[in-house]
Amino acid sequence: MNSSTRIDDLVQCMTLEEKLGQLNMLSAAGDSIRTSENAALVDAVRHGQAGSVLNLVGAQALKDTQDIALNETRLGIPLLFCFDVVHGYRTIFPIPLGEAASFDPDLWKRTAQCAAREASADGIGLTFAPMIDVCRDPRWGRIAEGPGEDQWLASIFARAKVEGFQGEDHDLQRADKLAATAKHIGAYGAVTAGRDYASVDISEHSLHDIYLPPFKAAVEAGVAAIMPAFVDLAGIPISAHRALLTALVREQWHFDGVYISDYHAIAELINHGIARDLTHAAALALHAGMDIDMMSYAYINHLPQALAQGLISQDEIDQAVRRVLTLKEKLGLFDNPYRLTPHTMPNEESRALAREAAQKSIVLLKNDANILPLSPTGGRCLIVNTREDITSDALGSWSGAGETHDVRDFETSLRAALPARDIRYITAPDQNHFDAVRKELNHAAVALIIVGEKREQSGEAASRAHPKLSEYETALIKIVREQNLPCIVMINSGRPLIIESAYDDADALLACWFLGIESGPALADVLTGRVDATGRLPISWPRAIGQIPIFYGQKPSGRPYNAQDVFTSKYIDESNQPAFVFGHGLSYTEFSLSDLSCTRHNDRINVEVRLKNIGAREGTQTLFLFLHHASTERARPYLQLRDFTKCTLKKDEEQLISFTLDEHHFAQYDDHDDVIFESGLYDIYVGTKADFNHLLSCQITIDRQLNILSFTPNT
Ligand code: GLC
Repeated sequence: MNSSTRIDDLVQCMTLEEKLGQLNMLSAAGDSIRTSENAALVDAVRHGQAGSVLNLVGAQALKDTQDIALNETRLGIPLLFCFDVVHGYRTIFPIPLGEAASFDPDLWKRTAQCAAREASADGIGLTFAPMIDVCRDPRWGRIAEGPGEDQWLASIFARAKVEGFQGEDHDLQRADKLAATAKHIGAYGAVTAGRDYASVDISEHSLHDIYLPPFKAAVEAGVAAIMPAFVDLAGIPISAHRALLTALVREQWHFDGVYISDYHAIAELINHGIARDLTHAAALALHAGMDIDMMSYAYINHLPQALAQGLISQDEIDQAVRRVLTLKEKLGLFDNPYRLTPHTMPNEESRALAREAAQKSIVLLKNDANILPLSPTGGRCLIVNTREDITSDALGSWSGAGETHDVRDFETSLRAALPARDIRYITAPDQNHFDAVRKELNHAAVALIIVGEKREQSGEAASRAHPKLSEYETALIKIVREQNLPCIVMINSGRPLIIESAYDDADALLACWFLGIESGPALADVLTGRVDATGRLPISWPRAIGQIPIFYGQKPSGRPYNAQDVFTSKYIDESNQPAFVFGHGLSYTEFSLSDLSCTRHNDRINVEVRLKNIGAREGTQTLFLFLHHASTERARPYLQLRDFTKCTLKKDEEQLISFTLDEHHFAQYDDHDDVIFESGLYDIYVGTKADFNHLLSCQITIDRQLNILSFTPNT
């Protein structure tokens, strides 16, 4: 690793304790360092025993702490301030699973840019984001924090977020940029039974084919840091996984950034059963390639002993210190340690972006008889909210420096959007409110029922064995059904929730996730048709818990489902199909798709389809391109996402939509990290969701130069 002369000179004159101080990250509490809670932190900074600080919020607090590091330590090395800016800093955007539903990489980048502008204005230098853990198990609460079930989508998401936080030129010295951290490498989304922090035991092939590609994309995009997952991978805790962290990611992928441990994770190597004590844990982690120890004190207190015992070398320590100091230098901290710039947040511009992101995240799952959009006139709209904290819930998990009072609520927004309609809003959190609801329903023309999760039921340490609507919510929806009232169900959640009878009882269903500070206006915009419903599911929506893990990219079975044959792959008590497939989402208009073609163009394969708006209003459609590798010695999934695009068309407007494929699109992983591109037979699918009934397809044979040797449209 090339470090600057300044860094080399600095490392030369640092004591061992000063070096270990740079590898020590401590957590603050709140927004002042004058509190007793932060006394130990202040003392550690004053004695050069902390190189970075997380969870300190507010420009003044950061300046006060930086002053201590600069003026009261021997070498005056600036601190790096870090924070979980996952879906916004003060302007809170939809949770990542919701934002992924926009299938809009430009939007993903813009929200990251906005978050970087806000957080860096307050002196933050690094965010612990993007979280890019692929996940196919809605029992896992952290599914909310990532981009869903598909590695291709997650890779594009990763790239967009890293470029958004860091800038495409990676000039981290710019005052509005943040160093990004790709987290949590090591297939964290595949924890056993969806239980957070549980062991991960998957095949080497799945690791390379499904869970690592987003991290490779982040490294290729120049991500500044990576955070290993808490978990073990087939018995090797990622925090001590040298083969993954160093041999693969550093040496094969050429990652030259910093590894930051997760919170206390190094000390937890003892719980994992591979470390005898903190000295051994510290040595294992450092030897694996971990640079910064977040809050386990193993490095600062026990690496000297590890060094003395010959468990690690001075050079390993120095390399880690160089990487940390190099990151600080890239951020310009030695010359501009405060990075503070006055910035009003949120502001109209950031609110407009938050509203756009929220609009595009909402997925219209069902809309029988087109009861949506709500008309400007008509009978009473009754809103029944079962969530007592719906306003703060809108901030979701990892709400950064978000404030509940910044959230613009749904009721106010819907009244503003439908000034001529009578709107009645009641909160009915439990079955004691059934009678009140029945009474209100007698005077209503349409009911909007808000159900789902509290934000505390989502995110870290929030795995659910029963990720479903409550019996009360299901009964409430049934009451509306029994009164033959049009019933619109809005699901606020950090994951797909099993909806059971509501699937049939509701006339309209919307996935509303946790949409951030502009959730109210965005919901009103979509429900009234001011904007089209454009979100599409980045995650399969299970019909039953027993189907989990469920995802579209299933590999063929030797006994594929056949209703006429008992001995085929199925459940005897449930369908194989999810309630809603990956990519599902309705628009307020209709589209037709036709004329799939494949031609060779400029050494690439050009796939084209004709999309037409055959409905009554302008709308936006998302089109997906999937591949199936039909002739290979390893069974490949029926469908593999390889591209997506969105298109907005006016009524009766049509457009040729094209996708350009190169060998990267056809490439597959083998058992290791090798990517192989094989000539041969491929099925190509283009359509609106991962459902063969909604896909046009053809079969092509290609050679290694991407020449098309045969083309067979599948009618
Ligand atoms: C948490 C999370 C991680 C986060 C870190 C710092 O435990 O696992 O995603 O960045 O601690 O808050």
